[in-house]
Amino acid sequence: MNHIIRDTTVLTMNDRNEILERTDVVIENGIIAKIGPKAGETADNANIIDGSGKLVMPGLINCHCHVPMTLLRNYADDMDLQTWLFDHIFPVEDRLNEDDVYWGTLLGIMEMLSTGTTCFADMYYFMDSIASAVESSGIRAQLSRGQTCNEPGSDFSGNQAMKESEEFVRKWNGAADGRITAAMAPHAIYTCSPSYIQAIAEKAGKLGVPIHVHLDETVREHEDSLGTYGKTPAAHLYDLGLFDHKTIAAHCVCITVEDMALMKEKGVSVIHCPASNLKLASGIAPIPEAISAGLNVCIGTDGASSNNNLNMWEDMYLASIIHKGSKRDPKLITAAETLRMATVNGAKALGMSCVGSIREGNKADLIMVDLEKPHLKPMHNLCSALVYSAQGSDVCMTMVDGRILYQDGEFKTIDREKVDYHLEKVCKRLFE
Ligand code: NI
Repeated sequence: MNHIIRDTTVLTMNDRNEILERTDVVIENGIIAKIGPKAGETADNANIIDGSGKLVMPGLINCHCHVPMTLLRNYADDMDLQTWLFDHIFPVEDRLNEDDVYWGTLLGIMEMLSTGTTCFADMYYFMDSIASAVESSGIRAQLSRGQTCNEPGSDFSGNQAMKESEEFVRKWNGAADGRITAAMAPHAIYTCSPSYIQAIAEKAGKLGVPIHVHLDETVREHEDSLGTYGKTPAAHLYDLGLFDHKTIAAHCVCITVEDMALMKEKGVSVIHCPASNLKLASGIAPIPEAISAGLNVCIGTDGASSNNNLNMWEDMYLASIIHKGSKRDPKLITAAETLRMATVNGAKALGMSCVGSIREGNKADLIMVDLEKPHLKPMHNLCSALVYSAQGSDVCMTMVDGRILYQDGEFKTIDREKVDYHLEKVCKRLFE
């Protein structure tokens, strides 16, 4: 179906962050066909959407998630990362099956769509279930099977995760009309041996897919790496050749100026996960420094178990204010910069040049925000309003590939009651 959004405000997120007023946006065959005043006056057979009092902007891109972890939301909190992960999260994850992951994923996708996320990058397992949920829901995603193996060796062809990862790439890369792309994901340097990381890098090269990895999330990871390898986690991965492939690196809390130079050389994107880093007390990533070093910085929520939601607006808010506070410099990370991280920078990180901004010819991955809310008035500055005042619940419409997936509280592709029904059953089995 074609759509015309009439008489609306558009935040383009083009190079000048241009804002267009009282304009129409015409969406044809999944593409933003025309933008301009009265551009949608003559089109017929289109769904007309009244855009007055609303904002059209690019859908948000969540670059680091473990979406089925919605199942573990508020299950284990207020403890350090190692205890949280090894004593609480991993034991429940051992009991997960593909059905659990499917319903947990749909729940996460509902949350993302209702808060304006149109694309997410995910690392988990039971990837067929996640891909199926992405396919049926209509959202866009870069998916990867997280791999862990601390054994040394030279031949990992018999390794289960490696096999699943390769099968996943072959089966799903480019599926769902191109909405699904695949990556390979060595979980982290503390869960993967050097030779395993090298084997994954080699395989990614052969399959022609990018890399998604956790990098330098905690002081402990950083210091263990210095102790074991005599170098930082980033230098370790650089030397292993992982960064020779297009890479997105989550967290980067402890990266050094030297690491930033290595990452810049290889075009590695930094995924800032402020809520997760603060909640797990990992620290504050040197994002202003990373931006000064010329690195592409995007934003991720991480899983719902360390955040505890998948609402990008909260992470945008934190991304913009924590550096000001910790560095005592209110000029750091402006609202406009933050919006770029959550949109165009995310698209760049994931190699998706046709989303992330509102421009003619781009795929219609866009959202509408209700600007008539009391907490958004008066509208002195749109970017400030979006980053410092807006809430995820201000999103009133979410569209991917020109298809409306969420509008005014309703999910168009997901049966909410069915998800709730299965969720209850899944949780009963997992936690009782
Ligand atoms: Ni993570």
